[in-house]
Amino acid sequence: MKTSVSHNFKMAMVLLLFVLTSLRLILLFYFPLSEIISDKILLGVIVFIVLYLWIQESMDYHDLLKLNRALIESHEQLKLAQVDTIAALIKTVEAKDRYTSGHSERVTGLALAIADEMRLDEEVKAVVARAGILHDIGKIGIKDDILTKIDPLTEEDWSVIKRHPDDGVKILKPLGFLANVREVIRGHHERYDGRGYPEGLKAGQIRIESQILAVADAFDAMNSRRAYRKPLERDQIIDELKKNSGMQHSPAVVEAFFAALEKNPKLWEK
Ligand SMILES: [Fe+2]
Repeated sequence: MKTSVSHNFKMAMVLLLFVLTSLRLILLFYFPLSEIISDKILLGVIVFIVLYLWIQESMDYHDLLKLNRALIESHEQLKLAQVDTIAALIKTVEAKDRYTSGHSERVTGLALAIADEMRLDEEVKAVVARAGILHDIGKIGIKDDILTKIDPLTEEDWSVIKRHPDDGVKILKPLGFLANVREVIRGHHERYDGRGYPEGLKAGQIRIESQILAVADAFDAMNSRRAYRKPLERDQIIDELKKNSGMQHSPAVVEAFFAALEKNPKLWEK
């Protein structure tokens, strides 16, 4: 409404400017010596109108900038709210098995510590953080009796479990802004030697964020209690990661993780 009034007023000013200039030209044409409208008055009116229009335009531009900033902010908040909602869904998946409770948050913390150690830029770290929280969202469709099974998993169980990276991608598909995150989630069970799933990508074909999540995920699994075993000893975990460096895991990521663990022993805590 305000914009429409201001627009009409501006149009009236432009019209007035046009009428005054035309009038002056007509008078000059028919009465060259006319002093009915003096040049000084006309100039004053024109300067006033131009100045007024210029001030109005800058005020409108400023209002537009403010509106644009507010829109961007609310869009970002909406994205955060959507991620938070999905993160809440993850908690329901983790709650099915008390031994995996808090897994995604721990994996995120570990993965960010590795990303810091590797001096990755903020954009990559933001993807790591979101993918860390959401990486196992695809497990939401897996039946509890497979997720909480104490006996060794059958081949059929494994074929169901191996679908979770792709199922995660499907669940997150409607959220366009998570395109990068989806790709990272899809790759979090790929192996450095190409023997992972779902694609069997190897080394440099796997996104760095996925390689980082794989190490953080494996570490948290070994460092946590399961229904069928106690957490592994610290030495065993280190040996296991060393053994798998260059096979399951990227050597550069394992090395960065060891450096992060040395700097911050709290990463061992659950
Ligand atoms: Fe997973």
